[in-house]
Amino acid sequence: MNNLHFKQTADGSSTLYNSLLNEHYHSIHGALNESIHVFIRKGFLYFVDLFKSVKDINILEIGFGTGLNCILTYIENLKLNISLNYTSLEPFPLEMKIIDNLDFNLDSKQLDAFKLIHQSFWEKPVKINKQFSLEKFTLELKDFNINKLYDIIYFDAFAPNKQPELWKVDVFNKLFNLTSNNGVLVTYCAKGQVRRDLEKVGYFVERLEGPPGKREMLRATKV
Ligand SMILES: C[S@@+](CC[C@H](N)C(=O)[O-])C[C@H]1O[C@@H](n2cnc3c(N)ncnc32)[C@H](O)[C@@H]1O
Repeated sequence: MNNLHFKQTADGSSTLYNSLLNEHYHSIHGALNESIHVFIRKGFLYFVDLFKSVKDINILEIGFGTGLNCILTYIENLKLNISLNYTSLEPFPLEMKIIDNLDFNLDSKQLDAFKLIHQSFWEKPVKINKQFSLEKFTLELKDFNINKLYDIIYFDAFAPNKQPELWKVDVFNKLFNLTSNNGVLVTYCAKGQVRRDLEKVGYFVERLEGPPGKREMLRATKV
């Protein structure tokens, strides 16, 4: 915990600051707004809207962190008739005493689900409710080997200047091979080099309007 510090972001929600990396877990312009915009609206809901008849969705998240993307996906999925498998990778799981002090503006039912998401076992699938299955792995992406395809990838690693090894062509190639046909990868990052490298491995890449405080973000589709 020594290197992790709580911060309140511009929309009132919390984030963590990692002083070793000099990096925040979310945008300081609004953690909640960023997650909703980048991962939920431009990733999950975009996909659901495009494939209206879809009944099963596999999501892969790189960087479980505070679990914000996970709980927001869970909340949105309550409104849908979709069976969702959410897989998330996190080599450095946060302690419960940190999680307990985060404020994502959740109501009491959502808070119960958030706790369940965090307290559930790692390395094996757990049903959070009848339509949401969660599998968390304490693994780095490079060590994650699975024979499965994902419809949506939330690429939420620390920024390229902090963790350059995660923003390389060979990593994107691995993610491309894990993406189902017509599947999408979304990321808050809009760097030109990242966009070109995602294109290089075969994705069709769109630059979309970014969340508050950021001009653009990227969505990559396996067409
Ligand atoms: C930007 S933060 C995560 C944000 C997270 N989605 C959230 O909502 O809190 C990046 C996360 O990636 C994790 N991470 C670091 N190296 C990783 C790796 N090699 N593979 C997967 N995740 C990694 C970090 O520990 C951190 O939790």
